[in-house]
Amino acid sequence: MSGAETSSLDDLRGEVERLRGALAAREAQAAEKEDQLQRYAADLRETFKEERARAQQLRDSYFATVRALTNAVEARDAYTGKHAERVAAYALEIGSAIGQQWAGHPEIEFGFLLHDIGKVAVPDSILHKPEPLTPHERDLIQQHPVTGWEIVRQVDFLGAARDVVRHHHERWDGDGYPDGLKGEDIPLSARVFAVADTLDALTTTRPYRAASPISEARKLIQEARGTQFDPTVVDAFANMPDELFEGIRAEIS
Ligand SMILES: [Fe+2]
Repeated sequence: MSGAETSSLDDLRGEVERLRGALAAREAQAAEKEDQLQRYAADLRETFKEERARAQQLRDSYFATVRALTNAVEARDAYTGKHAERVAAYALEIGSAIGQQWAGHPEIEFGFLLHDIGKVAVPDSILHKPEPLTPHERDLIQQHPVTGWEIVRQVDFLGAARDVVRHHHERWDGDGYPDGLKGEDIPLSARVFAVADTLDALTTTRPYRAASPISEARKLIQEARGTQFDPTVVDAFANMPDELFEGIRAEIS
């Protein structure tokens, strides 16, 4: 081998060594980057987990707050017992029968639970009066949806709940209160709630009358189809089994 050939072979070896070194450095860099990315991913997973736990805590606090307010309203009325909780469960079931998955939307459930919060402004002597109400007393009671709405309207986390509080006494034919909304102008959650509320009111003992059986409540609700109540909601309710409502009643009483 000539001297020139030896030197070019050495150059080649040198170049291969240099390339190997460069490759090893790149691989080390890549491994370091991969480690870094994995650390970032782990950090992100941890942050996400913490955020989810915080969101859950916040939701739990909202529920606890709403339940406390609900209990404050119901504590005054020995007759209705857990009316709000029961009626919320009925309304969630009826909603689901018309394709509304409200169980995953706490705002709607908050509205069901807080619907009568405005009754805090109605004196006990009127709220618990067994005799028929005077027109003035009736006016006072009929202010409770607006009073309730005034109480909750600044509470952002209640969102759509505020619609139920304000509109749960509207009627399909427009003769309800407080705004005389008619048909589909009434929020759907309030239309569903109206049926659930009537079902619970009729099947619970009140100061002025005994509880009716569910069959009697069904008859009265059917008679008010298209006048007081949304026909679609009444039809869905009519197809739901008694056992469903009896089960809720047995569980929440
Ligand atoms: Fe009400």
